[in-house]
Amino acid sequence: MSGAPTRRELGQLLGAGLLGGAAAACGQEPEEETSDGRTLVASLKELGDGDSIDFEYPEGHAAFVAKLGVSAEGGLGPDADIVAFHKACPHMGCPIFPDADTLGKGEFGPCVCHFSRFDLRMSGRQIEGRATQRLVRVNLELEGGELYATGIEGVPFGEAPTDG
Ligand code: FES
Repeated sequence: MSGAPTRRELGQLLGAGLLGGAAAACGQEPEEETSDGRTLVASLKELGDGDSIDFEYPEGHAAFVAKLGVSAEGGLGPDADIVAFHKACPHMGCPIFPDADTLGKGEFGPCVCHFSRFDLRMSGRQIEGRATQRLVRVNLELEGGELYATGIEGVPFGEAPTDG
């Protein structure tokens, strides 16, 4: 795809349930919130270097948690390499799919629409492409070998910023 996606192309992506905010359309079940307001997203033992697990957080937003194998800003775990982000590209919301080869280098992308790539070691900062903002980060807590989502940093694609 070159240039901005056409209305037809975006419609096809929506129809296929591929846009970031369309996690529910992908058949992905919302994660369950614990009584303390956190959301269990994965177990540490499920993640090897370069592995990722998809989840939805908050409801309706496709996200992933990955073990990069290289330390990352704000990373969790013994190697400070576990991070989580939304999958929607901040440029126009197109989906980005985690790939073990790029995750193992601490990178995410390219976006299928205009090829933006992001550095997951540097809080999801864009490396190249048309995106000018970083990925939305999902804050994680690690307790007893389990990873919990506790909030996000940034504004999910398509949503208006809120005060506070
Ligand atoms: S939607 Fe344009 S670079 Fe991702």
